[in-house]
Amino acid sequence: MPGAGTSGSDHSGAWAAVERSWSGSPAELAEFTIRFDEHFATLGELFTSVYADHHDCAAQLVALAVELGEAWLARSPELKAVDAQRLADPDWFQSERMLGGVCYVDRYAGDLDGIREKIPYFQELGLTYLHLMPLFLAPEVNSDGGYAVSSYREVNPALGDIEQLRALATELRAAGISLVVDFIFNHTSNEHEWARRAIAGEREFEEYYWIYRDREAPDAFERTVREIFPDDHPGSFVQLDDGRWVWATFYSFQWDLNYANPAVFRAMAGEMLFLAGLGVDVLRMDAVAFIWKRVGTPCESLPEAHVLIRAFNAVCAIVAPALLFKSEAIVHPDEVAQYIDRGECQLSYNPLQMALGWEALATRDTRLLSQALERRHSIVDGTAWVNYVRSHDDIGWTFSDEDAAELGIDGHAHRRFLNAFYVGRFDGSFARGVPFQENPRTGDCRISGTTASLSGLEQGDPGAIGRIHLAHSIALSTGGVPLLYLGDEVGQLNDYGYLDDPAHAGDSRWANRPAYPAAAYADRNDPGTDAGAIYLGLRRLIEVRSRTPEFAGSTLHAFDTHNPHVLGYQRPGGEHLGDHLGQHLGGQGEVLCLANFGDTDELVDGRTLSGFAADAHELTRDESVSLTGGLRLRPHEFAWLRVTPS
Ligand code: GLC
Ligand code: GLC
Repeated sequence: MPGAGTSGSDHSGAWAAVERSWSGSPAELAEFTIRFDEHFATLGELFTSVYADHHDCAAQLVALAVELGEAWLARSPELKAVDAQRLADPDWFQSERMLGGVCYVDRYAGDLDGIREKIPYFQELGLTYLHLMPLFLAPEVNSDGGYAVSSYREVNPALGDIEQLRALATELRAAGISLVVDFIFNHTSNEHEWARRAIAGEREFEEYYWIYRDREAPDAFERTVREIFPDDHPGSFVQLDDGRWVWATFYSFQWDLNYANPAVFRAMAGEMLFLAGLGVDVLRMDAVAFIWKRVGTPCESLPEAHVLIRAFNAVCAIVAPALLFKSEAIVHPDEVAQYIDRGECQLSYNPLQMALGWEALATRDTRLLSQALERRHSIVDGTAWVNYVRSHDDIGWTFSDEDAAELGIDGHAHRRFLNAFYVGRFDGSFARGVPFQENPRTGDCRISGTTASLSGLEQGDPGAIGRIHLAHSIALSTGGVPLLYLGDEVGQLNDYGYLDDPAHAGDSRWANRPAYPAAAYADRNDPGTDAGAIYLGLRRLIEVRSRTPEFAGSTLHAFDTHNPHVLGYQRPGGEHLGDHLGQHLGGQGEVLCLANFGDTDELVDGRTLSGFAADAHELTRDESVSLTGGLRLRPHEFAWLRVTPS
């Protein structure tokens, strides 16, 4: 096939190696050629832009090309059919029916079989996306909830095995649910084979990590690097038994991979394609900000981190184009946005909206949240936010100090207030959170807690259920993929049992990772119980959202309610969205969302609403309302109004 694979820059060497090692049929080779020709030039460019100066650059790229061919050949016909479907409908995840759930396999359902048995419930709830927390082989005691991976190709035996995971992916797909798993590519556990061989002194594997004999390099790096888990160890390096130092951004048993070595990229691309071959639909790209290090910098969100994620994406574009990446960057909003792109991460957690939702509940003031919607919500076509009320992790106050200053808010003082408020050290607080990684040296602190405990349910505050619904109403109506932390929909409370478990006692995030709340689930259809009231209210919102095409996509316009307690935004109908979504909508109206974060009745006055026709339809209650005299909202009340211009 003369010329195949050589378009763009010269990758004829790589292509020749693919052809030489091809074990499939000529027809298959012809098919693979199309994918290779379309994306290998991009991959090669990205790869060489990072590794050109490395002696092993060219050889690693050729070896990678051969492995791409093998992985494509091994990809099942079913998954190739999914690839074709997604290529034909690249905006599939922008639908108003997309709804995510996240859980720990063991805590929520015991094991993978237990998850299978919950599929009918997931369907009852309306899930189309299920993130199973890390389920791979990990050290038995210290595993950071599975984020310390000892083998990406083995399921933790307590949960099941690889064949069960593959079967689960298939079953979920048949039930209309995409499987999401983590790609924990910044680090491995210290029990991973690569780490063991590095410890044993095998040069090849020492070069997979950042290992130094003395403190010179570690000291130099630590001058500019932030401490992530200061309760565990100061700085970024931990000392090995043999006296050497290894980079561990998170726990001491999670060793950062050295992406300056192209062999590491290639090895991890192989692990990624293994996951893709199981039928995973979305990879949650863990700790994206940390993968590239350069002395004299914070070693977060450096340009090479982006190039490498794009290169991983190009690998998928060749072998497994159905796969999406979700960025986990819990950093400054400017940095979060940089990972979001069709060619990088098509999905991203929205930590700013998450944090500011809690901020607005504490202050009863929506100005920061409103400013964030106005200024930071818009992202490029073909991408979407994952909007969540809370995750398995802590809540960090990642808003921009400059944004806050414009509203006369001092970022540092405000974070101190929010921390005090959410750990219940502020008079009159409704919240029962737990401090996480409180750093007396820097004054930094983050918050652990379940949605219900942070909203006042644990403390018996009468506003709790209203706050829980309000917080979810924002995640469900601002666009993209809403993500529920499973168990929150029935109001699960903090679990303080972690304090009795030596492996967890030092990590307060376990307070917000309770076991499956069976009693609450049993009550879920009884509106007289807290669980039922929360659940039935959320179910209603989910149903309404799934029939409201204006909620597809991410386009949103901030709406000034002229009342700081009431948040407002508009979700435009058809004509404002991209072509594809526009056709799908057929030009419906427009939905105006109003949400009262105050503890008192609040009015959005008639003049403020005068741009809309007097007759509006409130979707969550399915009733007509007149906007003539303005709209009054009870404490924590929200309205999804289908409106038309006046
Ligand atoms: C991510 C995970 C977190 C984990 C960390 C290290 O931030 O969400 O739970 O501790 O990565 O893998
Ligand atoms: C990870 C950690 C979280 C931390 C963040 C810092 O997401 O899980 O605790 O705040 O990294 O970027």
